[in-house]
Amino acid sequence: MSAFEDFLATFDVEPGYLNWAANGPLSPSVRAEVFADADLLGSGRPSSLALVADRIAQAKETAAELLGVPATELTVQPSATYGLMHAFFGLGGEVIASRAEFPSITLTLERAAHASHGELAARWIDPHGGHVTPDAVADALDDEVTALAVSHVDFRTGFRADLAALREAIGPDRLLIVDAVQSLGIVEDDYSVADVVVGHGYKWLRAGRGTGFARFSAAARERIAPVLSGFGGVGGPLPVDELPAPASDASAYTVNGPDQLAVARLAVGLGDVRDAGVARIEQAVAEHVDAILEIADRHGIPVRSPRERARRAGIVTLAPEHPAPLSAALVNAGVVATTRGDAVRVAPHAGTTADTLRMLDDAIASAGNEKFTSA
Ligand SMILES: Cc1ncc(COP(=O)(O)O)c(C=O)c1O
Repeated sequence: MSAFEDFLATFDVEPGYLNWAANGPLSPSVRAEVFADADLLGSGRPSSLALVADRIAQAKETAAELLGVPATELTVQPSATYGLMHAFFGLGGEVIASRAEFPSITLTLERAAHASHGELAARWIDPHGGHVTPDAVADALDDEVTALAVSHVDFRTGFRADLAALREAIGPDRLLIVDAVQSLGIVEDDYSVADVVVGHGYKWLRAGRGTGFARFSAAARERIAPVLSGFGGVGGPLPVDELPAPASDASAYTVNGPDQLAVARLAVGLGDVRDAGVARIEQAVAEHVDAILEIADRHGIPVRSPRERARRAGIVTLAPEHPAPLSAALVNAGVVATTRGDAVRVAPHAGTTADTLRMLDDAIASAGNEKFTSA
């Protein structure tokens, strides 16, 4: 079997699971790691403790490899939002962001602006469909703008932003801050065009919570003050009886020692997608998304997600006239998805099976099309 086929064989989640954009059930290798590490930590043996601690460097190295950047620019974080907090609380000027972004961007930026006493402001944009395109960004640019914050893949619509084009739109002197929660591990792209990239392991990496990470480029480190730096951010031994400055590398953007068990899960989750090949994973996800689009079209359910492969990833947002009956039909059939507001979000992973897609199709059919659409 190829490494990719091995990866597919690890999907032992129950049929009907189409909620990967919300939560990724833990992979077998991550589960095995939890037990092994717990045993190592239980021994108290310094060599065993060191083995678990080694996973911190491994997680940074593997994240760096997937992002195509040096490992010294990586930090591990309790969650993606913590990475964004380090970025926004240390910035000045105006930051462009869509009002429709996940609250990890909107609320964190709002809080940081509030705390900055006028040094930082959000420049909210309301692009059509919530799609952060180069044109929408260009329209909002002026000399006050110091950064753009954007989700690589939008949690609501599944729209995939064009990172290279956004970088070109803002130019080399502004920071590009990217939330890659809905893309890293399932989308191959040139992430290195972004100065700050945050992500986590509890969805597509199947590694559970506590598994955030963030990259800070040289430009980011120049312009983002490590305001939230703690004693773990000094880059040396525990600073007892002294008050050293934050480290000059990315570790400045950390507070204290990470949860080693969480970081070990992250290292394994990252390693699994790296070994399987992100391009192969992306292709498999795209094929499942094609199948879901076909099912939606056949049942006359309007879709709010982009159809072009380059502009989407693993999210299909169904926008029926009447979402409640669709949502109920899915729940009754054991199909797990996310209903929020007027839409039902369906998200397959590479290992999603034909059985699961058939369950989706049958669930929609069983309830009758007229309940979802006005036509
Ligand atoms: C796009 C996006 N960013 C951030 C988050 C939250 O990340 P975290 O819990 O790691 O802070 C989510 C969670 O759904 C998300 O979809």
